[in-house]
Amino acid sequence: MAKEVVKQDGTTHVENDGTPKKASLGQKVKRHCARFWWLDLLIFIAVVLVIVLPIVYVGYPNLAQKEVNKGVLNITSMSLSDPAPDSFTLELDSVLSTTSKYHPELAAFNGSLHLKDSDPAFAYLDIPKVKAENGTVSHVDQRVQIADMTEYTKYTMTVLGTEEYSIYLKGRGGLQQGGLPKTNVNYNQKITLKGKSSLNSLKGFNLTSFNILTSEQEDGANANGTITIPNPTVLSVEMGTVTLDMSVAGTPVGVATIEDLVLKPGDNSFDMRAVTNQTTVVTMIFTDYKSGILPIDVVGKTAVFNNQSLGYYEKALQSNKLSFELDVIAALRRAGLADALGISNSTSKA
Ligand SMILES: *[C@@H]1O[C@H](CO)[C@@H](O)[C@H](O)[C@H]1NC(C)=O
Ligand SMILES: *[C@@H]1O[C@H](CO)[C@@H](O)[C@H](O)[C@H]1NC(C)=O
Ligand SMILES: *[C@@H]1O[C@H](CO)[C@@H](O)[C@H](O)[C@H]1NC(C)=O
Ligand SMILES: *[C@@H]1O[C@H](CO)[C@@H](O)[C@H](O)[C@H]1NC(C)=O
Ligand SMILES: *[C@@H]1O[C@H](CO)[C@@H](O)[C@H](O)[C@H]1NC(C)=O
Ligand SMILES: *[C@@H]1O[C@H](CO)[C@@H](O)[C@H](O)[C@H]1NC(C)=O
Ligand SMILES: *[C@@H]1O[C@H](CO)[C@@H](O)[C@H](O)[C@H]1NC(C)=O
Ligand SMILES: *[C@@H]1O[C@H](CO)[C@@H](O)[C@H](O)[C@H]1NC(C)=O
Repeated sequence: MAKEVVKQDGTTHVENDGTPKKASLGQKVKRHCARFWWLDLLIFIAVVLVIVLPIVYVGYPNLAQKEVNKGVLNITSMSLSDPAPDSFTLELDSVLSTTSKYHPELAAFNGSLHLKDSDPAFAYLDIPKVKAENGTVSHVDQRVQIADMTEYTKYTMTVLGTEEYSIYLKGRGGLQQGGLPKTNVNYNQKITLKGKSSLNSLKGFNLTSFNILTSEQEDGANANGTITIPNPTVLSVEMGTVTLDMSVAGTPVGVATIEDLVLKPGDNSFDMRAVTNQTTVVTMIFTDYKSGILPIDVVGKTAVFNNQSLGYYEKALQSNKLSFELDVIAALRRAGLADALGISNSTSKA
């Protein structure tokens, strides 16, 4: 068929032999095109492959990656609850902060959480799909398995005791921008907490009320009181029943227990019950601490939820030394025991 057309063209060309060279050239091109249309098609395809495809399949993914790299996730609220030795329930609200002018759809992906400069992930999260815009809010609510206990314990210790830190969300997932083909991007996003990121070693921890219990108690406690713990972060942490070792200059003086401790953002106050060694305490106020004021050092001992020890909280609490001052004589007086011990109003005279 094509050959026939070429023949006809050739005949026409002969008829117009006398026309100027320009027209003749046009005709030549036309004939060339007709004869070598397949070559032109190949050249066209080659141009597409060489110029367009790299833009779509190399330039575009690179651009997509570059734009994704501009994103920072700001956590506006975070709650760790229902803890078990190997898992916890995570609720997380975050706001995407990005300077990119593109707003692609980001597919859901399996994200891993890492401490800065740490290769092993401490946990994996199912990150839901989002439209990436500055200010996009996303909500995560899932049961999370702890992936690496050493890393997770490092994380809890970091949250408790390190003033400034950041964690990273890593992973790989699909990205779709308008009608362009779907591409994959790598995530390595910095995660920041709104406001303060650290519990700041529980600075501000204090015993704000203290009573000596003179009647027999079912749990064996001989003192109770109120412990306050400020939490400057947006984190809420359920730690279970927490026990604290109390000592004075290295000598144990008792153990305090806080039932069902949930540390919420802001100022927290918890009821505590304590079993103190009254012999040791009374001896102290008659010897080295005649003022009656005991400088008490406090270190976490256990954290138990549903009858299971939570090693990752215990290690963090054990590594964090707290202290408060306790006016024992005032407490003895309130309990009506000062006279029996022969202690006058402010200072013991032993
Ligand atoms: C996210 O956090 C960064 C650094 O903490 C801050 O500069 C930015 O304004 C925050 N963005 C949003 C949307 O909160
Ligand atoms: C992103 O959103 C934040 C808060 O809504 C705003 O302060 C910031 O200027 C926005 N940044 C850009 C690049 O639009
Ligand atoms: C996410 O990836 C990790 C590592 O490949 C894997 O162990 C984990 O099961 C994955 N999680 C989900 C929900 O797919
Ligand atoms: C701790 O609480 C007691 C009793 O309320 C108070 O007298 C004391 O000043 C507080 N200590 C600190 C460091 O705030
Ligand atoms: C301590 O125990 C006494 C007597 O049982 C009770 O009246 C008081 O409310 C308790 N205080 C705290 C802070 O638990
Ligand atoms: C109280 O402490 C003394 C030493 O100071 C110790 O001998 C005694 O066993 C302790 N009592 C209890 C009940 O732990
Ligand atoms: C809690 O654990 C202890 C020992 O680990 C066990 O003896 C006890 O029965 C358990 N209690 C409950 C309510 O599971
Ligand atoms: C406190 O002690 C002083 C003398 O040591 C005494 O005069 C005063 O009455 C006492 N006050 C009380 C409330 O016991």
